[in-house]
Amino acid sequence: MLTILVVVAFLGSCFLAPYTSSLNLPCDSDDLRALEGFLEGLEYQIDGWSKNSSDCCSWEGVSCESPTPVRDDASFSLRVVSIVLGNKRLQGTLSKSLAGLIQLRTLNLSHNYFRSSLPIELFQLENLEVLDLSSNGLSGVLPMEINLPSLRYLDMSRNLLNGLINGGICETAKGLQVLDLSMNYFTGEIPAPSGNCRLLENLSLSSNLLAGNLPEDLFRFPRLSHLNLQNNNISGPLGLDFGNLSTLIKVDISRNGFSGILPDVFQNLRKLEQFYAGSNRFTGQLPASLSNSPTISGLNLSNNSLNGQIVLNCSAMVGLINLGLSSNRFNGPIPDNLANCPRLRSLDLAQNKLCGQLPDSFKNLKSLSHLTLYKTGLHNLSAALEILQHCRNLTILVLTSNFHNEAIPVDFNLQFNKLNTLVIANCQLIGSVPAWLSGCTKLQLLDLSWNRLSGKIPDLFGKLKFLFYLDLSNNSLSGEIPTGLTKLQSLIFRNLSSDSSQDLLFCFKINQTGLGLRYNQIWSFPPSLYLSSNLLTGPILPELGNLKLLHVLDLKNNSLSGYIPSTLSEMTNLETLDLSHNNLSGTIPPSLTFLSFLSKFSVAFNQLSGVIPSGGQFLTFPDSSFEGNKGLCGPPSLPCSSASREDPTITLGKSPEGAWESIMGLPFGFGAIVGFITVVAISFMCGWLLPQAERRTRKTGGN
Ligand SMILES: *[C@@H]1O[C@H](CO)[C@@H](O)[C@H](O)[C@H]1NC(C)=O
Ligand SMILES: *[C@@H]1O[C@H](CO)[C@@H](O)[C@H](O)[C@H]1NC(C)=O
Ligand SMILES: *[C@@H]1O[C@H](CO)[C@@H](O)[C@H](O)[C@H]1NC(C)=O
Ligand SMILES: *[C@@H]1O[C@H](CO)[C@@H](O)[C@H](O)[C@H]1NC(C)=O
Ligand SMILES: *[C@@H]1O[C@H](CO)[C@@H](O)[C@H](O)[C@H]1NC(C)=O
Ligand SMILES: *[C@@H]1O[C@H](CO)[C@@H](O)[C@H](O)[C@H]1NC(C)=O
Ligand SMILES: *[C@@H]1O[C@H](CO)[C@@H](O)[C@H](O)[C@H]1NC(C)=O
Ligand SMILES: *[C@@H]1O[C@H](CO)[C@@H](O)[C@H](O)[C@H]1NC(C)=O
Ligand SMILES: *[C@@H]1O[C@H](CO)[C@@H](O)[C@H](O)[C@H]1NC(C)=O
Ligand SMILES: *[C@@H]1O[C@H](CO)[C@@H](O)[C@H](O)[C@H]1NC(C)=O
Ligand SMILES: *[C@@H]1O[C@H](CO)[C@@H](O)[C@H](O)[C@H]1NC(C)=O
Ligand SMILES: *[C@@H]1O[C@H](CO)[C@@H](O)[C@H](O)[C@H]1NC(C)=O
Repeated sequence: MLTILVVVAFLGSCFLAPYTSSLNLPCDSDDLRALEGFLEGLEYQIDGWSKNSSDCCSWEGVSCESPTPVRDDASFSLRVVSIVLGNKRLQGTLSKSLAGLIQLRTLNLSHNYFRSSLPIELFQLENLEVLDLSSNGLSGVLPMEINLPSLRYLDMSRNLLNGLINGGICETAKGLQVLDLSMNYFTGEIPAPSGNCRLLENLSLSSNLLAGNLPEDLFRFPRLSHLNLQNNNISGPLGLDFGNLSTLIKVDISRNGFSGILPDVFQNLRKLEQFYAGSNRFTGQLPASLSNSPTISGLNLSNNSLNGQIVLNCSAMVGLINLGLSSNRFNGPIPDNLANCPRLRSLDLAQNKLCGQLPDSFKNLKSLSHLTLYKTGLHNLSAALEILQHCRNLTILVLTSNFHNEAIPVDFNLQFNKLNTLVIANCQLIGSVPAWLSGCTKLQLLDLSWNRLSGKIPDLFGKLKFLFYLDLSNNSLSGEIPTGLTKLQSLIFRNLSSDSSQDLLFCFKINQTGLGLRYNQIWSFPPSLYLSSNLLTGPILPELGNLKLLHVLDLKNNSLSGYIPSTLSEMTNLETLDLSHNNLSGTIPPSLTFLSFLSKFSVAFNQLSGVIPSGGQFLTFPDSSFEGNKGLCGPPSLPCSSASREDPTITLGKSPEGAWESIMGLPFGFGAIVGFITVVAISFMCGWLLPQAERRTRKTGGN
């Protein structure tokens, strides 16, 4: 018995298992020619491929098997069945010679830089099962003639393909499971896919230019689980047939032109976990089957025209984690029973016509991490904060544009141990900046702008070692700038708490024009200090120069007096410096010309005098940056009288030290910048710093 098994196993390994090149069989000469043709289109050779060696089966990424004996000469050569060269930085033309690899089953050339039109010959490979050409620069159209009967997986996302999508793909590729054509320039309607792809599970056509209605045939895929159509211009209703897709797990149809009511078919979608339909034109109320779905964990219907009360049956919706209903026409109170959604982590109800107080039951939302109630008609801030401090996991709280004319609670000890973002702007709040903020030790971003807060700025911010964005602008704060602000650790050396790095933030900041400025991630906020439009007096502290990582310093429209400290030039990352509309006197320190990234600068409407420094970024500032100072002269403003006209190097450095800087400092400065770029680029590969670093490279490169 055992012997038989061994023999069977031996025979099996001889006849069934693929031969490998260790058997020293040559690779098929046709296949070798095809690969050589492919190589010719490349700008560089591929590591591990040797033109000298005719044993192409040993080349890296190439796999061979003995041929299936379909041809008479089922001879002693190996056929190429797989090429996997994803992520190799290959550049050049994708050669049609690959179509000569008639036994090919896998072709994966994703994440390279092929910039040619799509070789349509590849669509005739009868044995091809996996074709992944995603993330290249391929252009052109899908061929009319497609003959890929073995295809299971087709990914051509992230290319430059255009034209119509050929629905005929399903005529031959009956076993297709994954079709991903997202992020191209396909136009026209989604084709009726002939109903033949019975095994299709994942269909992704997102981020194209598709229009028209959904074809009925789309609702006949018996196994469809992931449907991504977001970011197109697809219109019409989402009909009742949608309920036929009972295998759906994730659907994203956001950012299209869908209209009509949401079909009440969600009871049939027994596996649906994520339904994203934001930024469409859906109307009507939430269908009962949706608001009772036990499987949904992510629901985003933001930016539609849904109305009625927000009625969710949280006793049924036990899986709900993320809920986005912002920018609709929901009315009535904030639903009391939301607190029964035990796993709710993120809740965005912004911009609806809601009213009333925050329900007391919100105390029970122990998992709640992000709460956005921007512009919801909410009142009673004291009660809201009192309730929310029981939500121990709260990290992001946005309450902007509510509570008009209320007092900010100051008298009790609120605890927000995990809060990293607090935005209560544009609420006309009265009172002072509350002392309990010093207990919010994780705070990174605080925005209390556009209120009517008065009194001094308390000296508590120095203790908030993660704070890098502070906006107290447009209040009635008085007194001097507290020294604590010169000690903000995360503006001296970046020190962000790691647990918040990827937090999504959906909030609006209203800027001067009243338009919404949208930030998606805390990282997209530049390190900033906004104290503008208050009643601040006293000097600009020279120690502000410590804040080397600051990008924006806005002190405009106060009553600050004294000199502009020359140490401000130590804020080497500064991009915006606005000191306009104050009572500053003295000269503009020439050292400010060393701020190489300064792109917005104003000292307008002060009592400054002397020559405007020249050089560096100062060559780019307009006259309006300096206007309203009777004593200032020199370009770009009025020319100085001949009496004050001096040798520019002497002007630049009034002190011997300054003159030295003007000679030695410049080249040193640029060296330091180049070094800085390298360090920044390497150290902060995430988010906000990268674009800055790129901008810098360009700037210094131009010098
Ligand atoms: C290929 O062969 C040529 C001449 O036969 C030789 O000069 C060259 O070094 C070989 N290249 C490799 C990579 O073996
Ligand atoms: C193709 O290769 C890339 C990079 O190696 C990999 O991420 C991707 O999953 C592969 N595609 C398929 C279909 O296996
Ligand atoms: C479909 O996509 C999902 C999510 O990306 C993935 O988990 C699943 O494996 C895919 N199905 C197939 C057949 O590749
Ligand atoms: C989107 O489709 C509508 C018709 O449904 C059309 O009026 C509109 O111009 C299209 N928008 C774009 C950007 O193609
Ligand atoms: C969806 O299912 C219903 C009821 O089974 C059926 O009448 C309808 O034709 C189906 N729709 C499609 C597009 O197959
Ligand atoms: C919800 O949808 C809106 C509109 O499409 C989008 O802007 C927002 O980022 C989405 N929110 C989440 C959490 O995905
Ligand atoms: C809201 O949807 C409209 C189209 O319906 C779109 O133009 C707009 O950009 C969307 N707004 C957001 C914030 O996504
Ligand atoms: C809410 O869901 C629970 C549990 O599924 C169910 O018993 C109850 O009838 C539902 N209530 C309403 C108003 O639909
Ligand atoms: C609170 O957050 C932590 C980590 O962020 C997580 O491990 C914990 O499960 C959360 N608590 C609740 C009740 O969701
Ligand atoms: C705010 O709510 C608290 C607690 O519910 C209540 O005692 C207080 O009167 C409310 N204040 C206002 C102004 O409605
Ligand atoms: C200050 O805030 C008020 C609303 O409180 C707003 O109308 C005004 O435009 C703001 N001023 C500035 C300079 O931002
Ligand atoms: C205000 O925000 C809008 C929208 O993001 C932007 O277009 C505009 O330039 C901003 N204005 C200022 C003064 O920053």
